[in-house]
Amino acid sequence: MAVTAGPLGAPINRVDGLVKVTGRARYAAEHQAPGLAHGWVVSSDIAAGRIVRIDATEALALPGVLHVLTHENRPPLAEDDDSYRDEVSPPTSSPFRPLHDDRIRFSAQPIALVVAETPELARYAATLVRVDYERAPHVTDLQAHRGAAYEPKPRMPPPRPRGDADRAFAQASVQVDAQYLAPIEHHNPMELFGATVIREPDGRLTVYDKTQGVQNVQHYLCKIFGYRTGELRVLSPFVGGAFGAGLRPQYEVFLAVLAARVLNRSVRVVLTRQQMFGLTHRPATWQRVALGADADGRLEAVIHEAVAETSRFEDFNEAVVNWSGLLYRCDNARFDHKVTQLDLCTPGDMRAPGAAWGVYALECAMDELAVKLDIDPLALRLRNYADRDLNDDRPFSSKELRACYQQAAERFGWSRRDPRPRSMRQGHALIGWGMAGGVWEAMQVPASARAVLTADGKLSVSSATGDIGTGTYTVMAQIAADALGLPFEDVTFALGDSSLPAAPVQGGSFTVASVGSAVKAACERVRERLLALAGQHAGAGSPVDVLRRAGLEAVEEEASVEPSAALERYSRYAHSAVFAEVRVDEDFGTAQVTRVVSAVAAGRILNPKTARSQISGAIVGGIGMALEEESVIDQAFGRFINHNLAEYHVPVNADVHDIEVIFVDERDDVVNTLGAKGLAEIGIVGTAAAIANAVFHATGRRIRDLPIRPDRLL
Ligand code: MOS
Repeated sequence: MAVTAGPLGAPINRVDGLVKVTGRARYAAEHQAPGLAHGWVVSSDIAAGRIVRIDATEALALPGVLHVLTHENRPPLAEDDDSYRDEVSPPTSSPFRPLHDDRIRFSAQPIALVVAETPELARYAATLVRVDYERAPHVTDLQAHRGAAYEPKPRMPPPRPRGDADRAFAQASVQVDAQYLAPIEHHNPMELFGATVIREPDGRLTVYDKTQGVQNVQHYLCKIFGYRTGELRVLSPFVGGAFGAGLRPQYEVFLAVLAARVLNRSVRVVLTRQQMFGLTHRPATWQRVALGADADGRLEAVIHEAVAETSRFEDFNEAVVNWSGLLYRCDNARFDHKVTQLDLCTPGDMRAPGAAWGVYALECAMDELAVKLDIDPLALRLRNYADRDLNDDRPFSSKELRACYQQAAERFGWSRRDPRPRSMRQGHALIGWGMAGGVWEAMQVPASARAVLTADGKLSVSSATGDIGTGTYTVMAQIAADALGLPFEDVTFALGDSSLPAAPVQGGSFTVASVGSAVKAACERVRERLLALAGQHAGAGSPVDVLRRAGLEAVEEEASVEPSAALERYSRYAHSAVFAEVRVDEDFGTAQVTRVVSAVAAGRILNPKTARSQISGAIVGGIGMALEEESVIDQAFGRFINHNLAEYHVPVNADVHDIEVIFVDERDDVVNTLGAKGLAEIGIVGTAAAIANAVFHATGRRIRDLPIRPDRLL
C-alpha cells in the first residue's frame, strides 16, 4: 500500500487482513501432523465432591480409541503450586491442576481425556466413559455467599482512605446510596480454545495453542512436564479473539501435551463452546456506591465497596473500586474490595478487568446524583474534575478528559437534550440520552525485540508477543519503519513464537507501550550501527548502501526495555467520554443502542484505523455488558445453563448501529518514548454506564442490575 507521509500515525490496513479473510491464516486447531491423534475432554457433571470411580472399559473397547487419561493413570507430574503458577496467576493461589486427583472443584472441570484416531470417535467414546461421584454441597450464588467475603491479597490495592467519608456522607446535603449487581460474563471469542501438539522426529514438541502469551504457556508447560525451553516451542501466530480468556494457560494445552507424551504421538485437543464456560469468566460483582454532595454538586464523600466471587483455590481479584478515587476530586473517600469463594472455576481478566464493573457503578451513581441535584450530568462531572490523582497524590502524565467530554458532547448534540426522563418520545419509542466517563491504566511492562536489516533493504523485526486481533503485526511494523526511515512495505514483524525475544502476555492494553518501545529501541540500535558504519565508509547514503560498502549481509540488534523509574512520579491513565442514545420499546421492554459517540484520549495514536477498530469493538462489548451478556447458573447443579451462543447473548449486527470514535489530541512525553498510552480496554469502560443512564433518561426507570433485560424494563 502507498504511504506518503511517515508510516507512524497513518491509517494503514492490517497486514494480516488478507490471510485472515482468505482463510489462509491457520489457527491453533488447524495445524496438521502425520499420525495426529485427537483428544476429547470428559467434564464433571457435579460442582463439588469427588470421583469415586471412572470406568473407561466400554470406550477403550472401540477400535481406534487409543487411551483414556484420568487422574488414576496419568504419569507423575510436578507436585508443587509454583510449577502451575503462570505470569498472570493471582498472588495467592493453588492453581487448578487438570487430572490431578479425585476432587471436583467446579462443574465442567475436565476429568478425563479420551484419545482416538479421529475427533468423531473420541467424541463418541467420551460419551461411554462412566463416572460415579460422591457429591458435596456447593455454593455458586454470589449474593447468597456475600457474608463470607474477606480481603484477598490484592493485585492492585484499593486506595488508602482519605478524610472521613462516612461522616461527610451522613452530613452531605444531597446523597445517593445505591447497590449494583453485575452478573458473570464469559469471553466467548469466535475461535474455540484448542491446541495442536506436534511431536518432532527428535522428540521435541511444537505446540500450537490459542493463547495471549506464548512464553507464558511455554514456561508453564516446561515447569509441569520437566522440559527445557529448547525442547518445547509454543506458537500462536493468529488468535481468533480472546478478550483475556487466553492470558493464562488453559487446560486444552496441558491435556494435549500430556497425551502427546504418554502416547508418543502428535495430539490435538479442541474444546467445545460449552466446555469453554468452564475455563474462566468475568466475576459476578456486587457494589455499593455512596456519594454525598453539597447543593452545588461538589462531591463531599465517595464510598465505594465491592464484593466479587473467586474460586475455592485462588484469590482472583481485580481493581474495582480504585477508579472512584481517581475520576473526581473529593477529600473524603473510602474504598473496600472483598472476595467470596464459590464452587466455580477461577474468574479471570476480561476486557478492562475491574474498571468495566467499577466505573459502571460509579458513573451510574454520578448520574443518579445529577438527577437528584437537577444538574446536567456532564456539568456535574466538570464541576468535580480531578486535575491530580488523589489516590496516589501525584500529577497525571497527561489527562485530556475535559477535551473528551467537550468533543464527544458536541458531536453527539448533547446540548439539545431535554433533561426530563421520558421527554424525548418518538411515536411509540422512548428515546434516552446518557453519558459517562471512562479511565484505564496506561501500563508498560518489560519487553524485548530484535531487528535485522538485510542487504536487500528489508527489515525483519520480532518479539514473542501476540496479535489477538489488535493490529500488533501492523503497528509494530509502522514503529520499526518510522525508526529507520524505511518504506512500510519493506518491514515485516514476527510474533506468536516462544523462541523470539522475551515479551509479556498480550493484555492490559500495554503491548504498544511495552513491545513497541522495545521495537523502537532495537531499530534505533540498528540505526546507530549504520551511522557508525557510514562514518567508516565515506560516501555511503541509504542503509542498503552502507551495508554494501561495509561488505555486510545484515545488521542485527536486540533491545530490552523496562519502564523508566521516572514514571513513578506520575499517574498514567487513558480517558474517555461516552455518549449513548437508546430507543426503548415500552411494550416489549427492548432497548436498542442507536448511537454511541466515544472520545478517547490515549496519547499518540499510532494507527487511527486499527485504533478505531479497537474502540468500536470495545463499544460493542459495552453494549453487550449493558443489555445482553449474562451467564446464568442453575444453582441446584452449580452449572452454567446458557453455555452456548444461542442463549448467551452477545451483540450481533442487528444490535449495533452508529458508533463514532473521536481521538482527542493528547501529548504525553512521560509514558514512554512513543508517547502512546495503548488502546483497547478504554473503549469498554464507561460504555455500559452511558447506556444504562440513557435507559433511565428514556424510561425514568433506574435498572442497577445488569444486563438491562426486557423483563427488567417491563
Ligand atoms: Mo485483556 S482482559 O488484558 O486480555
